[in-house]
Amino acid sequence: MRLPLIAVLIGLSGFAGFGQTILVQPYLQPGGESTLELFDSKVVAWVTDQKPGEFVVEYGSSPAYGQKVAPDRRTLQPSAKQRYFTYSAVLTNLAPNSRVYYRVALGKKTVRESSFAARKTPDETVKFAVMGDMADGKTNSRAIAWEMAKVRPEFLMIPGDIVYSRGRVSEYMANFWPTYSNVRSPSVKNGFPLMAGTVFYPVLGNHDVGATNLGGVADGFGAFYFFHPPLNGPTNNPWNTPVVGSADQKAAFHKAAGPAYPGLCNYSFDNGAGHFLCLDANRYVPVTDLDLQAWIRQDLMRSKARWKMVFFHQPGFNSSKSHNSEQKMRLLSPLFEECGVDVVFAGHVHNYQRSKPLRFTPDDPRRLSASGLVHGTFRLDEEFDGIKRTRPDGILYLVTGGGGAGLYDKDFTDKPQKWKNDPWAVVPFTAKFYSERHSFTVVDMTPDKLSIRQLNDKGEQVDRITVTKP
Ligand SMILES: [Fe+2]
Repeated sequence: MRLPLIAVLIGLSGFAGFGQTILVQPYLQPGGESTLELFDSKVVAWVTDQKPGEFVVEYGSSPAYGQKVAPDRRTLQPSAKQRYFTYSAVLTNLAPNSRVYYRVALGKKTVRESSFAARKTPDETVKFAVMGDMADGKTNSRAIAWEMAKVRPEFLMIPGDIVYSRGRVSEYMANFWPTYSNVRSPSVKNGFPLMAGTVFYPVLGNHDVGATNLGGVADGFGAFYFFHPPLNGPTNNPWNTPVVGSADQKAAFHKAAGPAYPGLCNYSFDNGAGHFLCLDANRYVPVTDLDLQAWIRQDLMRSKARWKMVFFHQPGFNSSKSHNSEQKMRLLSPLFEECGVDVVFAGHVHNYQRSKPLRFTPDDPRRLSASGLVHGTFRLDEEFDGIKRTRPDGILYLVTGGGGAGLYDKDFTDKPQKWKNDPWAVVPFTAKFYSERHSFTVVDMTPDKLSIRQLNDKGEQVDRITVTKP
């Protein structure tokens, strides 16, 4: 088939021929549900130009499908040159633990067909990946996508900095979708269409809200337009991402974002034996706010999950030189300990770091100093090694920010003298540091065991621990 000129012009990122141009190939999203009830649901979303199309999504427990749903459509037009329709279809009544097959069609033509794992019941094994600081449009992020596809995670947790450099719609089009969804010839150089079968759960990083004023950068806040998170976070509060702009701009923003604003800021969900809590840790979030802490406490305490994990962007414990004074999330450590959190994942620092299991008591839990530093008392578990001693006494804090953006402190790998005796890291809480190459985390979770591996962009395992419970 001879492609229309427009398809040639947009290259890999577009797909034309049915009357309109599909600018973002269909991708999976979690949708609004958080706890797993009798059935799971998911969202399939895609983006086109502004020629309307009669799309339909068929889905079911086999490639014969059996169920059918028409999508919702929103207008996304942040500037005169950026005119899109965003589509989303909610797939309901998905049996837990099942494989779900879907096909997005326009008339008789298939736009995408793929399959994914529905969420699991607490007795089942779950495989997921974690990595932040990813889509900068360069080859490293595409190599990571390629390697991650080989592992076949059911979903990916993204602890922030989803796209560089300011979370703009134009940057999603240039850097994000061509790496993880619109990939016609998957390869180590081109990336892999992971999002067709892997659910991405994004958490806001500083770069994702890097354009703060719609009056200055009209296509900022792109994450709110494209993602469909669980919608169980607090809504009316002063710590949502501030969106600045004229009244018209803000009205258009809210209409195009829908419940993703402020849903994306804070949310949680269950899958298998795990409870996953995602928090916005950006500058504007007052972690000492008692209402915010009450919501976190309620969310974590209400969960009966065997494993509790928390995801946010700026790590409280970090032995790199970069971002070392941004320690405010340490103030939540006592709360996490009280609520039985097992592992905390962050990004922001572009390498991999694993802490010793630790407990931390801030000197002044109610106040964040102007320097950003949080002093306090550490209690380190020096016995845990993740091999022979697998029951941690304290929380494991992981930094997994090697998803694609330029690496920090490449010479720190396996050189404890650099990260233990450095003036920025006076307490030796770091057990493993890997910064030579880009990398991502893979977790195999059963009710009794977490197997945590770090793989680099060549697929090499650079860290592995097992975590068990009594
Ligand atoms: Fe960051």
